[in-house]
Amino acid sequence: MCTPCIFLTLFLGVVHSQFPRSCTTSSALETKTCCPLWTDDSPCGSQSGRGKCEKYEFTLLTNGRVRQYDDDRLDWPRFYYESTCKCFGNYSGYNCGQCKYGYTGDKCERQNTVVRKEIRQLSFLDRKKFFSYLALAKTTKSADFVILTTGDRHHRDTYHFVEASIYDVFAWIHYYSMKPILQNGTFNASFNYAHQGPAFPGWHRMCLMFLEREIQLLTGDENFAIPYYDWRGENNCSICTNELLGKSNKQGFLDDESHFAFWKSICSGYNYDDAYCQTAGDECQMERLHRKPGSDPRVKSLPSFKDVEDTLKWKDFDRYPYDRSSQMSFRNALEGFLRPSDGKTLERSMHNAVHIYFGGTMSQIPISSNDPMFLLHHNFIDKIFDVWVRRYKSTPDKYPRNGIAGQGPNECATPFFPCYSNKDFLTSSSNLGYRYSKYQGM
Ligand SMILES: *[C@@H]1O[C@H](CO)[C@@H](O)[C@H](O)[C@H]1NC(C)=O
Ligand SMILES: *[C@@H]1O[C@H](CO)[C@@H](O)[C@H](O)[C@H]1NC(C)=O
Ligand SMILES: *[C@@H]1O[C@H](CO)[C@@H](O)[C@H](O)[C@H]1NC(C)=O
Ligand SMILES: *[C@@H]1O[C@H](CO)[C@@H](O)[C@H](O)[C@H]1NC(C)=O
Repeated sequence: MCTPCIFLTLFLGVVHSQFPRSCTTSSALETKTCCPLWTDDSPCGSQSGRGKCEKYEFTLLTNGRVRQYDDDRLDWPRFYYESTCKCFGNYSGYNCGQCKYGYTGDKCERQNTVVRKEIRQLSFLDRKKFFSYLALAKTTKSADFVILTTGDRHHRDTYHFVEASIYDVFAWIHYYSMKPILQNGTFNASFNYAHQGPAFPGWHRMCLMFLEREIQLLTGDENFAIPYYDWRGENNCSICTNELLGKSNKQGFLDDESHFAFWKSICSGYNYDDAYCQTAGDECQMERLHRKPGSDPRVKSLPSFKDVEDTLKWKDFDRYPYDRSSQMSFRNALEGFLRPSDGKTLERSMHNAVHIYFGGTMSQIPISSNDPMFLLHHNFIDKIFDVWVRRYKSTPDKYPRNGIAGQGPNECATPFFPCYSNKDFLTSSSNLGYRYSKYQGM
């Protein structure tokens, strides 16, 4: 059924962003300030000592290269907001109303570590919970965030924000990070903020942490953890059954009896140059999720145990030129532009191969986050990242300086609030409030 679109069109000289709803008011936009009131009626909960509103120090130079402020996402979130909340102690969140990852309680005084398990390790009850929590996240309007649907930087007065569900905000964040970067008036598809560079593992870590936390808050279940799919050595997608992630019908759409049968993608395809996510808010134009595991001739099988072991043997996190051509780079092997065994041959592997293997929604990377298979796949990629971090005792200071826009060590992972520096994800997951179960020897 089609519902009328709700557009929040703001006719202002500036635009609005990911966008804590309370930071899309005209005064927040005019003053470039995103310091919302917490429940004590003070900005960033300052009266309760949770944080303060602070002008953000931006990185004007990346390796000596002066930035062209052409892309709204460069030097995130400067284009929109120059002042944001800086939270003290264990507090966090866009208004300091939440706890840092790994902490809980009214005063964020308690530590909490959740355990992410392989989906086939979940008890019957935990499986039930997982699917019902996702259904809730897909259908509950986000109280905190709205999403941007148009993206023509040259006509800012056309920008629209629409309401979205909690899951759809998550799906949109991935989409927003992936649009090619506007440089000097031209879109360059060689770059984006989440892929093809050293930010890849940490950015995706953050996006899973974001959704996991949103679901914990939505359901009041602070022990909720996203499951993963250990696809090593699978002949086919053994979790593509209606009890789990859903089987596909002849056209590739998810079976009517499966959990996500009637889920739709908020954004479609690659409608890039002057629009984001045109279909958002217009149910008539949204498409159902589809998958065709194993049917793409480019990728015959899921990666093997050996592929994962080979990926883990590269001890440099990343290497010059820090993009899809990097050799002997753990990041590039994990992301899947490199043959893991020799570290030299550029070919589709690991993360990229798995997306292509699933076909359909998963194989169109910008919109792949609409399919919950994305969560399970990226969660396993994150587990491999975590194994690597611990094996080589990696720490944030080992994150390389590099020339990729938005992927410098001190730049903020785009578009999250508040600022999380890319380098800070190069740490064990136990420092971020979760750990992985053991499964199949890893
Ligand atoms: C943060 O949490 C830890 C662990 O529970 C606690 O020891 C510490 O005092 C807290 N820090 C602040 C500033 O509240
Ligand atoms: C941007 O474009 C202008 C005009 O086309 C050109 O003069 C300038 O050199 C370009 N700058 C960069 C950094 O490419
Ligand atoms: C995009 O950026 C890459 C890397 O800097 C450069 O080689 C390429 O020429 C650029 N493409 C366009 C269309 O500007
Ligand atoms: C793989 O799984 C899909 C969906 O579960 C099924 O349609 C397909 O026939 C299977 N392919 C093979 C080669 O077993």
